Amino acid sequence: MRKIFTALFIIILYSYFVFILKIYFIVKILLHFLFFYDKIYNERLFFAEGVVLITKHINGDDENGILSAGKIIKSGGLVAFPTETVYGLGANGFDENAVKSIFKAKGRPSDNPLILHIAAMEQAEEIAFLNDEAVKLARHFWPGPLTVVLPKKKAVPYCVTGGLETVAVRMPSNEIARKLIIAANVPVAAPSANISGKPSPTTAYDVSQDMDGKIPMIIDGGACQIGIESTVVDLTGKVPAVLRPGGITLDMLREVLKDCVMDKGLLEPLKADETPKCPGMKYKHYAPEAEVIVFENGTEGRINEYLEKNKGKKLAVYCKNGRKYKCENIKYWGDNAADMAKNLFADLREFDKYGTEIILCEAPEMSQLGQSVRNRLYKSAGYNVIKK
Ligand code: TXA
Ligand code: MG
Repeated sequence: MRKIFTALFIIILYSYFVFILKIYFIVKILLHFLFFYDKIYNERLFFAEGVVLITKHINGDDENGILSAGKIIKSGGLVAFPTETVYGLGANGFDENAVKSIFKAKGRPSDNPLILHIAAMEQAEEIAFLNDEAVKLARHFWPGPLTVVLPKKKAVPYCVTGGLETVAVRMPSNEIARKLIIAANVPVAAPSANISGKPSPTTAYDVSQDMDGKIPMIIDGGACQIGIESTVVDLTGKVPAVLRPGGITLDMLREVLKDCVMDKGLLEPLKADETPKCPGMKYKHYAPEAEVIVFENGTEGRINEYLEKNKGKKLAVYCKNGRKYKCENIKYWGDNAADMAKNLFADLREFDKYGTEIILCEAPEMSQLGQSVRNRLYKSAGYNVIKK
């Protein structure tokens, strides 16, 4: 008798569970259809307060979708979008609540300022005091992967600049990004669209891993062309200084400017008493779950030694095309620094998918672009670098 009652009880419990599950899916599907109605996009609170349940994915060639994305941004919501460097998480740069919701979605410290993305020079004049150097750089490198730091104008809220009197400005070249900024008709504040500390996303899939359920829309524009973030140049000091190296190298900048220097501390970790000019530089960055160890050129032999000594662990080697190592899990980053720039962030994320414990990584060549890539790689390794 007891057995019958227990069986009955389990059956009732199971039916109840299935019933709740069905209700859950019906509500989810209903909400999904609600998203097709434009009026939802204008429900500012719906997004600004983070009450987002389903993230809509649209394709970069969906012109109407981009117009809707522009409306979301204009009315205070967040949209992830492709740029030529990495995917950005965009909000209306004039709207304090919207900007604050970027920090919330990313878990980003509020003193790490954001870049304002523009589509035309008039927009730059609305937000920053331009000097000769800024105009020269803009003529040569905009639209493109260059960000300039300038004194800010009043229109820019302090939550964008992390309380600073300066503002970072960039005009991206990616067509989808440009269409989105034009549709929003405001400067778009956008950091990389990853959870703070993780590798920046270079595909819409990687964005969705970090942002699904937190933001109303992701625009898929395929893989980013460059793969590492823009070069940041500070134009507020006596001599222009590169605060973050990227696709636009020091030599390229020096062809346009009389002088330009690299901020110290770009390849070395800062000392405890040093304050970085680029606030983002003091935070943990680009780190996958796995531990990363970088091997500089000439120390490749030590990778085999490491593999031999750590056989029990889930190791992977990340190296230049054509290299041979005694390891089952090898991934190639390409032939040169440009290839590695394109692949690095997505590959670091992929190693995590396979539960890799330690990534043994060859550094790219010491070209200027190679140094930009090393800057990201060394940070992802927490400066765990085997030097020659
Ligand atoms: O390529 C890129 O720049 C991408 C795409 C989306 O445009 N954006 C990006 O943003 O990398 P984010 O937030 O991940 O990095 C911006 C960097 C941070 O290190 C920040 O500290 C620095 O720029 N920054 C922003 N405003 C600044 C300012 N006023 N002074 C100095 N550094 C600033
Ligand atoms: Mg970032």
